[in-house]
Amino acid sequence: MVKAIDYDSIAEIYDLYVTSDYDVAFFVSEVRKVGGPVLELMAGTGRLSLPLLGAGARLVCVDNSRGMLDVLDRKLERHGLDAELHCMDVRNLDLPSSFELAILPFNAFMELVDERDQRAVLAAVYRCLEPGGRFVCTLHNPVVRRATVDGVLRTVGRFATIEGALVVSGVEEGGDPVVKRLQFFELYGTDGALIWKRLLPMEFSLIEHESFESMASDVGFRIDRVYGDYQRSPFEPATSPAMVFLLQKRSA
Ligand SMILES: C[S@@+](CC[C@H](N)C(=O)[O-])C[C@H]1O[C@@H](n2cnc3c(N)ncnc32)[C@H](O)[C@@H]1O
Repeated sequence: MVKAIDYDSIAEIYDLYVTSDYDVAFFVSEVRKVGGPVLELMAGTGRLSLPLLGAGARLVCVDNSRGMLDVLDRKLERHGLDAELHCMDVRNLDLPSSFELAILPFNAFMELVDERDQRAVLAAVYRCLEPGGRFVCTLHNPVVRRATVDGVLRTVGRFATIEGALVVSGVEEGGDPVVKRLQFFELYGTDGALIWKRLLPMEFSLIEHESFESMASDVGFRIDRVYGDYQRSPFEPATSPAMVFLLQKRSA
């Protein structure tokens, strides 16, 4: 199976440049509604897992990048936290049907660029849930996200490191529905000289609101609600930055 993005190649630097926490309070309140373990899909290096564990959640984390999970494993040990980690492709998700809640944060569902894969993942998550169980799946709103898919090189940011500064930038093209992004990583020493440069080609799909709802319904989910951001504002198709889908498995 083809990987849309080679996360192993950037696992050791991911936490330097991905520092967002805008969704943490939202997910903490979701996991607090659950007594048993929560399934976190595409968990990566645990940007969200650590605060959720800190808030008392029990987590089963799935990711198909060994490198990302190794970083997560080291962070868990350093913080005295524990979670069950599975190096597994979500397209072949095979876990017992024992979860009251599954989450797929940070719009990572969009990295499944083939519609057959998107359908397979929705069906597999459905199987992993208890009757009445919930799935929180997050996506960018394609209407808003499309505005920066324009071939213009943009800087993501400049991040301090022990050696000096990591500069991350990217350019995006396509979007019908697959966006091809070239992400550049440059590490500069304190003298301003370039130490190394790395290129990461990425792909993600701009999935329309209606398409996602219809795929989720096809596998049996009830669409409970859709938020347009992590403050639980109602989804506004023309302006909301996000589509936060709250799906529910039918009761037995
Ligand atoms: C954008 S990162 C998000 C990581 C983390 N959830 C966060 O919020 O920082 C996407 C993650 O999805 C994982 N991933 C991508 N495709 C996958 C697949 N088919 N199966 C399992 N994990 C996958 C990558 O390895 C990566 O760790």
